[in-house]
Amino acid sequence: EHGLHAPAYPWSHNGMLDTFDHQSLRRGYQVYREVCAACHSLDRVAWRSLVGVTHTAAEARAMAEEFEYEDEPDDEGNPRMRPGKLADHIPAPYPNEQAARAGNQGAYPPDLSLMVKARHSGCDYIFALLTGYPDETPAGVTVAPGLNYNPYFPGGGIAMGRVLFDGLVEYDDGTPATTSQMAKDVTAFLNWAAEPEHDERKKAGLKAVLVIGALWGLSIWMKRFKWAPIK
Ligand code: HEM
Repeated sequence: EHGLHAPAYPWSHNGMLDTFDHQSLRRGYQVYREVCAACHSLDRVAWRSLVGVTHTAAEARAMAEEFEYEDEPDDEGNPRMRPGKLADHIPAPYPNEQAARAGNQGAYPPDLSLMVKARHSGCDYIFALLTGYPDETPAGVTVAPGLNYNPYFPGGGIAMGRVLFDGLVEYDDGTPATTSQMAKDVTAFLNWAAEPEHDERKKAGLKAVLVIGALWGLSIWMKRFKWAPIK
């Protein structure tokens, strides 16, 4: 059964030439870190890819160092840990799927790296899902025990409960952290995670259009110039 179709929201990065709002991406990382990262991994994102996108190199290095990673074993073959570095990927909250399910009543919180691409109407769906938990389940609707009603989730019953509530995080740029603001920011951030080449692609597209347009103009001029003597 399909979920309710998400409305089309006016994402500021939607236009052919529009790049991401990087302040929003930075806030979105904060929402991922403080809320979603408790359950969801973001396997494909390395700390270094945040540099120049959401954070400075020093900030990203400091964030990486807050986590421990497995190092080469010592001379006796004993496992060793080391602080994270820029080349490491963002660590998962659980060591494996079994542990993830055990922590979520059997449900599996999927990796979010490609979620925007994996679901039909990507950003719109995720925003609608995060903001779409009604206060009360509508009359006549039932979901299985342990599931939460969300009309945007196929089937209507989702293992993830509502996670965003007004004021849940405190943004360092002073933006009021309403439910919809956090949903917007984290969704934009997840769009970047799934499409890190997005801004470059659009800038390259613009360049290509300008260059091809100039060459086209030149070719018209040359044609006229060459054929001018022939009446
Ligand atoms: C599923 C996003 C926080 C547990 C999902 C899905 C998305 C998502 C997009 C997939 C829905 C689908 O399959 O179509 C997020 C975001 C979060 C967040 C952006 C932070 C703002 C959390 C937290 C938990 C959690 C904190 C655990 C307490 C789950 C579980 C599922 C899920 C168990 C699987 C649901 C099912 O298959 O029924 N989440 N999530 N999520 N999430 Fe989250």
